[in-house]
Amino acid sequence: MSKILVKGGTALKGEVQIDGAKNAVLPIVTAAALATEGVSKLTNVPNLSDVKIISNLLTSLGVKVDYNQQEKTLEIDAREKLKTEAEFEFVSKMRASFLVAAPILAREGYAHVAMPGGCAIGGRPIGLHLKGFEHLGAKVVQDAGYVELKAEEGLKGTTIFFDFPSVGATQNVVMAACLAEGTTILENAAQEPEIGDMIDFLTKMGAKISGKNTATLVIEGVEKLTGAEYAIMPDRVEAATYMIAAAATKGDVLVKGARYRDNVALVAKMREMGVTIEVLDENSMRVTNTREFLNPTDVKTLPHPGFLTDMQSQMMVLMLLAKGTSTITETVFENRFMNVEELRRMNAKIRIEGRTALIEGGVQLEGANVKATDLRAGASLIISGLIAHGETIIRHIEHIDRGYVDVESKFRKLGADIVRIVE
Ligand code: UD1
Repeated sequence: MSKILVKGGTALKGEVQIDGAKNAVLPIVTAAALATEGVSKLTNVPNLSDVKIISNLLTSLGVKVDYNQQEKTLEIDAREKLKTEAEFEFVSKMRASFLVAAPILAREGYAHVAMPGGCAIGGRPIGLHLKGFEHLGAKVVQDAGYVELKAEEGLKGTTIFFDFPSVGATQNVVMAACLAEGTTILENAAQEPEIGDMIDFLTKMGAKISGKNTATLVIEGVEKLTGAEYAIMPDRVEAATYMIAAAATKGDVLVKGARYRDNVALVAKMREMGVTIEVLDENSMRVTNTREFLNPTDVKTLPHPGFLTDMQSQMMVLMLLAKGTSTITETVFENRFMNVEELRRMNAKIRIEGRTALIEGGVQLEGANVKATDLRAGASLIISGLIAHGETIIRHIEHIDRGYVDVESKFRKLGADIVRIVE
């Protein structure tokens, strides 16, 4: 198994280019499976293990998927009838796989999809997805780890209210409603920018959706959707990770592909801590930090436009550089402080009280042997390795490869002493 070795102490300097967004490309690839005519061509597709998983799942459904690594393009030809069974082998690997339920059900009137199950950051129920399908007229039966969805007469537009603005459930309902008869109104929809990206792609395919980036989406069903060309938005979590790393190492980094509009909460919190962030244009930000100590702050994770849960592990490391105690309150997932145990191995002083982590700043981190427990926890360990005394070895980096393209070469280009050791 491979590991990453980081030697701390270098200030990051230079430019980094952000890749396409993992959380946008996964729903967009599944949306491409709605097209019964034409072929879709996605550009700016990141070379990530999660993209391979969703591609393999679509292939198992009879869709032709072709990735060109050099050009970062993905062609999707879904014109053949879809197979209706999404097997456990694929769906269990990644929760976003459950998004194939919508195209299968909407096109074929029947879907048999394995349940995604939980993962390290907490139980991950699908009740809202199923509620959405039920309101659209599907009969839902759960049995032996699978969900059976039936809509022999086709789906029918309706009004749906979500108790919580789930990202995945919003994506599944929007996709299904595109091919339903009549109009669907989705209230308390999630507003994450990656959903806006999926809506833009669906619109290019011929869908009629209004209310993008708001909590009320109105979807007018259409007869058919046609494959389209689309460039995936830049990854705001990858951008945030390099921005935080730049600040933590007291560096000076131009992050190309970091969009202020998608990262308002992060920028506000980093500025509150004393980090200098210049918004250069729509697509890039420059992060500098010369301060010996930052200011402590409090962060609460929330649905968009609140602070994104996928950035809190990295933010926690920045808080270790503040003079005083900062807090992070996690309200989206149950179990997202898995990195704390690993950070403690590195000498961090962090206490957990219920859903809140109390982070005591100003303590020098020491390099240690640690493990990535999930994707973003892994990213936080790289950043802590960069500011620790001595050497940090990170194991289980397969989690990091799910969401970061060429992570060690991008950091190395910024001056970091970081290598991957393939064992
Ligand atoms: C997506 C992102 C993930 C991010 C999360 C929140 C992708 C591929 N993943 O995950 O990186 O951390 O949004 O921004 O885009 N819930 C229910 N019932 C449901 C669905 C969700 O109770 O039917 C709960 C979940 O248990 C969780 C919370 O809602 O506690 C948020 O989940 P959701 O917004 O659905 O996240 P995902 O789409 O899984």
